[in-house]
Amino acid sequence: MADVHYIDHPLIKHKITMLRKESTGNMEFRKLVSEISMLMAYETLSDLPTRDEEIRTPIEETVQPVLDGKKPAVIPILRAGLGMVDGILALLPNAKVGHIGMFRDEETHKPHAYYCKLPPFIEDRLIMVVDPMLATGGSLCDAVDEIKKQGGRNIKCMCIIASPEGVKAFTERHPDVELYLGALDRCLNSDCYICPGLGDAGDRIFGTK
Ligand code: PRP
Ligand code: URA
Repeated sequence: MADVHYIDHPLIKHKITMLRKESTGNMEFRKLVSEISMLMAYETLSDLPTRDEEIRTPIEETVQPVLDGKKPAVIPILRAGLGMVDGILALLPNAKVGHIGMFRDEETHKPHAYYCKLPPFIEDRLIMVVDPMLATGGSLCDAVDEIKKQGGRNIKCMCIIASPEGVKAFTERHPDVELYLGALDRCLNSDCYICPGLGDAGDRIFGTK
């Protein structure tokens, strides 16, 4: 069974509530997605490896920790995942960024992949797959399938709001991948939207409705 981490922090909870409000406009929505992503990434990355480095302070020589290993890769699922990238790069400015394009068919609710470009040496990197919404789980499951097909092994996924149905589908399909969530909502409706959710994340980030 995959590890599911519910990030429990009053700042994240408050900002997710603001995000949900119908009255929150595109500009504020984008800012909140970015801030929540940064706060969630801080928790998600708490086990990043470090190594000791010899440095000199103004006072003396000392051995202190610095981040170790290959640069992580942040992989947003287009479109809505794009809104999460800036907040994460604020913490990891030299991370590589890949892209996976997916959209859900409005009738079948099944994901369709239309683009995939991952950074090189993906097998050696920590990979953070990001998408604000985990609804049926189809998009995230397929995105992780593709990343694994291309050699990715060390994968964490970060979603702001999830449904119980999506968590079940994802953890059954990818039991080896850790999942980090900002909120777990009640259920999906008949259009496979998360309830209470926040509506269509892509449209609210990009102002397309
Ligand atoms: C949304 C969201 C996820 C997906 C979640 O994207 O950003 O990628 O739906 O649904 P699922 O778990 O049922 O697959 P959408 O397909 O609306 O595309 P967009 O980001 O381009 O708006
Ligand atoms: N995609 C969204 O943007 N919102 C949902 O509630 C479900 C899928």
